[in-house]
Amino acid sequence: MPTDVANTKELKRLTNEALTYSGSRGILAAIVDELVGILESVSGFRMSQEESLTDGETVCDHGLAISPAQAGCCAGEYQRTAIFLRGAHSAIMQALEANSRGIVRVLYAGSGPYATLAVPLMTIFPPEKVKFTILDLHPESIQSVRSIVSELGLQCSVESYVVTDACNYTIPPRSLPDILLCEAMSTALEKEPQVGIARHLLSQAPDAIMVPESVQIEAFLVDTSDEPDMIIPESEDPSESQKPNRISLGPVFELSKAAIRSWPPTEADSLPAQSIQLPLIPKPSYRPFLFTTIIAYGEHVLLTHDCNLTGIREIMEIDSVAAGGDSYQFSYLLGQNPRLVAEASESHAPGSRRD
Ligand SMILES: C[S@@+](CC[C@H](N)C(=O)[O-])C[C@H]1O[C@@H](n2cnc3c(N)ncnc32)[C@H](O)[C@@H]1O
Repeated sequence: MPTDVANTKELKRLTNEALTYSGSRGILAAIVDELVGILESVSGFRMSQEESLTDGETVCDHGLAISPAQAGCCAGEYQRTAIFLRGAHSAIMQALEANSRGIVRVLYAGSGPYATLAVPLMTIFPPEKVKFTILDLHPESIQSVRSIVSELGLQCSVESYVVTDACNYTIPPRSLPDILLCEAMSTALEKEPQVGIARHLLSQAPDAIMVPESVQIEAFLVDTSDEPDMIIPESEDPSESQKPNRISLGPVFELSKAAIRSWPPTEADSLPAQSIQLPLIPKPSYRPFLFTTIIAYGEHVLLTHDCNLTGIREIMEIDSVAAGGDSYQFSYLLGQNPRLVAEASESHAPGSRRD
């Protein structure tokens, strides 16, 4: 018998709202805020007053595992949380349709203290249809998720809890997941180990659906004198992507199943990425930036400035764009501080020089 029937019912109602609400951003924010409030209240997880947000973070071989407190804060990023929940929900529906065994397994790597992208869905899908494995590097986070699941009476939806580095995890062959769910990333896939985790887990479950389905990074020249205008979320105003102050330089890197399959299966310290060539620019205030788009699954997409993860990042290695014609080759550096880096490759501009 669930300990907290009222909260479980309310969480189910709020989850249905978060999955379907299509009105103003303010109301969606309030829905997600209430939903996260329930997880928080039943978790028993509290950040101590003396702690800073970064206390308890761990540098791993494939990137930074942010602290449980900081991971808890991600939950309140309402657009991110709603779109990932919708993507995970769609992916599960798709897997249920395709799966003749009648049971769908979700491996949630990097759950944080609230398992925000899984617990709400446990109220929607019955445990005999969908089972979750909850994994995080930090034992406090897993302890917190255990409390939430038990308080809400959702134990039958959880197949196992795992405290480990997802990049070293061996998936038990008898419970291969149908869905790999992971949000352990930062803007432009820097710092956190999303790439390392997705690559490692997909190699063991190659048929699984990945959520997010794709993370796409594209370079633009942006007129920095116009910068204040750029913080409008693109999903709110689609004309933002057409802004005349942005000049596309083309795609730079993608994390998706197809991309992972195309990468060399070596122990190399970097992954291949695309190159860009700078055009002649209209004004000296133009600077190159990386833009991130996240396809959670299907139509559920986070566009530029929809949330922190899709903010924009200046490409610091490119110190001057004045000449035009210069080419830069990107690569994705693996290791404790993963990130995209650009290196000058060749110059096509008449009279352009390289020091
Ligand atoms: C950005 S937080 C997101 C939390 C949660 N997924 C959400 O969407 O609200 C990333 C989480 O991944 C976990 N994490 C990061 N690297 C990890 C790794 N190598 N193995 C297991 N967990 C990891 C962190 O501890 C943190 O809880």
